[in-house]
This record gives sequence, C-alpha cells and structure tokens, in this order.
Amino acid sequence: MTELAQTAHTVGRANEDKRKNCNTAIFANAKGGVGKSTLALMLSLGIATRHPTADVELIDLDNQATSSESLKRFSNHRFRVMNDDNLFLASGSPNNGNIINHIETVATGRTNPKYIVFDSPAGNEPGRSSFLLHCDVIFVPTSVSDADIFATQKYLTSLQQLFLRQRSDYQHKAPLVIILPNLVDSRAEFNELRKALDECPAYIGEPLYYSPLFRRAFRAEDDDKNVRDLLCANDSYIQWLTATLAGLDDLKPNPPKLFQL
Ligand SMILES: Nc1ncnc2c1ncn2[C@@H]1O[C@H](COP(=O)(O)OP(=O)(O)OP(=O)(O)O)[C@@H](O)[C@H]1O
Ligand SMILES: [Mg+2]
Repeated sequence: MTELAQTAHTVGRANEDKRKNCNTAIFANAKGGVGKSTLALMLSLGIATRHPTADVELIDLDNQATSSESLKRFSNHRFRVMNDDNLFLASGSPNNGNIINHIETVATGRTNPKYIVFDSPAGNEPGRSSFLLHCDVIFVPTSVSDADIFATQKYLTSLQQLFLRQRSDYQHKAPLVIILPNLVDSRAEFNELRKALDECPAYIGEPLYYSPLFRRAFRAEDDDKNVRDLLCANDSYIQWLTATLAGLDDLKPNPPKLFQL
C-alpha cells in the first residue's frame, strides 16, 4: 500500500451515516490569484447567513492568512475561523493526518448541519495532499486567462492522478470536482473557457463576473459595508454556490467530460 493510501487508511473514514450532516469543501488550485480566498469568504459567510441552524468552520491553510485574518471578526458560536499550525508540517506542506483527523472529528456524531470550508494556498500539490480525498467537493476557481487555464488543466490532471492512485488502493469515493470560472468579462469569454476545458472529467459552475467590489472584500470596515455590499451584489451566485454544497449527493460521481451545472 502506498504512503498516501496508508495515511488515509490508518485514519479511516467515518461511516456515511455519521457524515451525512457534514459537508466539506475546499477551494484549491496550484495557480495564485484566481479567487480561492474570495470564494471561500463568500461561501462560508453565505452559508452562515442562509442556514441559521448550521455550524460553519472556515479553515485557512494559507500562511498568508488572507481569509482567516479578515473573517475572524465575524466568529461566533456558529461560525468558527481556524488557522492552526498543527495542520502544517515544518516544510509548509499540509499535515494530512492532522487535517483528516480534524475533518473526521468534526463530521462524526453531529445532529445539526455542519459545513467545513477550506481555503488553500497557491502551489497546492495533490500528490502531497491526501486529505483532499476526505473532502466532499474540490472547488477549482480559475480565470479565463491562458496562463490560468493551462495551470488549471495541469492541476485537474494531478487531481485525477491522486484519485486513480486512491482507487487502486482501496475503495473510497473520489470528491466531486467543480471548476468555478472567476473574473469573467462576458458570456463569450465564459464559453471560450468551457471549450478549453471540455475534456476535463469535472463539473463547471456558474461564472462569477469581474467586479471592483471584490477588491475591498478582505478589508475590515467599521460597519462591514464592503462585505454586505459584496454579499448583496452576488446574492444569486451565493445562492447557487451554497445550494450546490448542500446538494452534493445529487451530483455524484464526477462526469466523464466537462458538464455544466
Ligand atoms: N470576480 C472578481 N472580480 C474582481 N476582482 C476579483 C474577483 N475575484 C477575485 N478578485 C480579486 O483578485 C485578487 C485575487 O483573489 P484571491 O486573493 O481571492 O485569490 P487567491 O486564489 O486566494 O490568491 P492566492 O493564491 O494568492 O491566495 C484579489 O485582489 C481579489 O480581490
Ligand atoms: Mg488566497
């Protein structure tokens, strides 16, 4: 058994019954600046404000701590923001065992719905991130620039390699992969992106259009007007994103070719 499978196998996975009230999402791409932190902020605040009985945990795996620094002021008994050194190795790579343990601990024995949202740094390598297999969905934001599309294609291939290694080692469902087009200018641009990613065995979500409002998303303003404006202006997108996370079970497994949600 490979080291990768051993980590996952040793820690084990709580049975589906225990997990059914917990959904775990990660925003990941090897490419920087594609909107991972912005979308993690929108999704975690979106769920916390739309699902009054749910517990939400935002876990920041990025040393830059963009999302945790800006979101910790919203923490309360239902909204937890974590940036924990125990989730990293000294090398800066994710500590797979500790992250998987954390997911399983949080996921087990819940009565109210629970959502874990990971923000991850640029440079994420699926080959060193077996904890990805314990997430329910990997959201892969990308812009439509050539550089981002190439990096995203490469990242999706690395994810497939991770899934294939895992499948040959032991029975375990692969997480869903949902590409999130971001910083989109026009419908034509979005169509171009879909064409470029057509062969990818993944879902593709609604486009998030470019808006200057996002530039102020992480700022702590006295009355949080920037965050309120952002959430209001993107209400239908957040509605779609939160509903997608809540309804993941309807999507399994990943499609053989790109499939528009
Ligand atoms: N739809 C959008 N319209 C305009 N600006 C955006 C949009 N989405 C993100 N941005 C801006 O793009 C920049 C990068 O976004 P963000 O920090 O979320 O990316 P990231 O993938 O987390 O980057 P990193 O890899 O450095 O962590 C930020 O300045 C953010 O405000
Ligand atoms: Mg970031």
